[in-house]
Amino acid sequence: MTKLIEMKAIKKSFNIGKENELEILRGIDLYVNEGEFISIVGQSGSGKSTLMNILGLLDRQTSGEYILNGVNIKTLKDKDLSSYRSKKIGFVFQNFNLIPRSNAQKNVELPMLYAKVSAKERKERAVELLKSVDVGDRLNHNPSELSGGQKQRVAIARAMANDPDIILADEPTGALDS
Ligand SMILES: Nc1ncnc2c1ncn2[C@@H]1O[C@H](COP(=O)(O)OP(=O)(O)OP(=O)(O)O)[C@@H](O)[C@H]1O
Ligand SMILES: [Mg+2]
Repeated sequence: MTKLIEMKAIKKSFNIGKENELEILRGIDLYVNEGEFISIVGQSGSGKSTLMNILGLLDRQTSGEYILNGVNIKTLKDKDLSSYRSKKIGFVFQNFNLIPRSNAQKNVELPMLYAKVSAKERKERAVELLKSVDVGDRLNHNPSELSGGQKQRVAIARAMANDPDIILADEPTGALDS
């Protein structure tokens, strides 16, 4: 099996050097193979989202090594991180992070726009994905016109848009039935 994620002694602190410095992650070792499905469980405020943000290349660790697909992410510049992220990682955010003034279909199309997928293919795939999570009848609704669970399903469809190698989902079913 191919090793996809290797984390060694990952630490993360906020407000470093200030009076309110907080050490949140205190040395995480995590190994994930291709094809594995894993869950991270912990109390509210324990650092799950902090860890997911590092896993998803949205934030960097304070210390320790993160090797993703054989690449030590310390060697990547910020702009390489974002392009890697947009091609390889789908992220379902805890608070959805949908674009408020775009409808469901446009929200799902956005990652494909960044990946330079043609307009026709973007549209087809967005509609197909939204149908697959049962919101095919809400393509034209903006996030404020969707229920909590519907927003979450649009966010899940968006995370799958570019068929990523890794899907990171931060409490993706908090508002859904099974
Ligand atoms: N940017 C930041 N600056 C300072 N402190 C932060 C920052 N982000 C998170 N924290 C703190 O880090 C801790 C962990 O937060 P995090 O969001 O990772 O928790 P969580 O495990 O995802 O919790 P929940 O289950 O409630 O979503 C919290 O105490 C939070 O206040
Ligand atoms: Mg969280």
